[in-house]
Parts: sequence; C-alpha cells; structure tokens
Amino acid sequence: MSTFYEEVGGTEFFEELVSGFYAVVAVDPILSPMYPDKDWHAAAERLQMFLEQYWGGPSTYSEMRGHPRLRMRHNQFFIDPKAKEAWLNAMARALDSVEISREHRAELWNYLELAANSLVNQE
Ligand code: HEM
Repeated sequence: MSTFYEEVGGTEFFEELVSGFYAVVAVDPILSPMYPDKDWHAAAERLQMFLEQYWGGPSTYSEMRGHPRLRMRHNQFFIDPKAKEAWLNAMARALDSVEISREHRAELWNYLELAANSLVNQE
C-alpha cells in the first residue's frame, strides 16, 4: 500500500509546496510580521517535515521537534479569521504552482482547512 506522501511525489513535492507557500508568506502583510527574524528557510523546513510526517513520510519532525502540539505552538501568534484566510490563501497559491492530482489536492486541502480552523485563537 502506498502512502499519500509517496503518491504525490515524496519529499520533492513537499519541498516545492512549502517553498511556494513561504514565498507568498514573506510578502503577505498579515503573515510576514509574525516572523520577526525572517528565517524563512528554518520555518519552511519545520513545516515541510511536519507535513511529510503527517502524510506518511519520514518522522523526522518528531525526532527533531518532539510532539507537534500545534495548538500550543501557535498560541503565541495572533490568529484571527483574517490571518487564517491569509494562511490558507498562501497555501492555495502554492498548490496552484505544483503538480498534483485533483483528488490529492482535495484531500490535502480538506486537511489544511480543518487544521487552520483549529488554530484560530482570536475572535
Ligand atoms: C491558521 C493560520 C496559521 C498561522 C497564522 C500560522 C503561523 C505560524 C507561525 C508564525 C509559525 C512560526 C514559524 C516557525 O518559526 O516555525 C508557525 C509554525 C508552524 N506551523 Fe503554523 N500557522 C498557521 C496554520 C498552520 C497549519 C494549518 C499548520 C499545519 C497543517 C501549521 C503548521 C505549523 C508547524 C508544523 C510549525 C512549526 C512548529 C514547530 O515545530 O515549532 N500552521 N505557524
């Protein structure tokens, strides 16, 4: 049985997706200020490792960062519905620029929307 990770193209796919995502985040007026040290490379690496692990790839994320505890790790950021929309919009744009089947995109998108909704911590 192949995993979603393998089906979409493994690490190359996730690297492309996350680098496209951070290219949008870096110039987004709501999201960019959340990264005061502008270390896009390190942030991209964490998100990439996390997504790879979630979708059945290597578990490097947990080895390096421990339990994801995403809600807790996002508490320090002001995430209102507008910030969530900006985040999802950056992901949608990144997804537009990678090759992925319609079915895989729908599955990934469904997860990302649920996860983003669960991280909203401000009215
Ligand atoms: C809802 C809007 C969201 C905002 C505004 C947001 C913002 C941020 C920010 C500012 C960071 C710190 C960057 C860093 O230095 O690593 C971060 C980290 C992270 N985010 Fe989000 N995020 C959002 C949604 C999500 C979603 C939906 C996921 C997963 C599907 C996610 C996964 C992660 C991961 C894995 C990290 C790194 C955690 C760590 O190991 O320290 N984020 N996020």
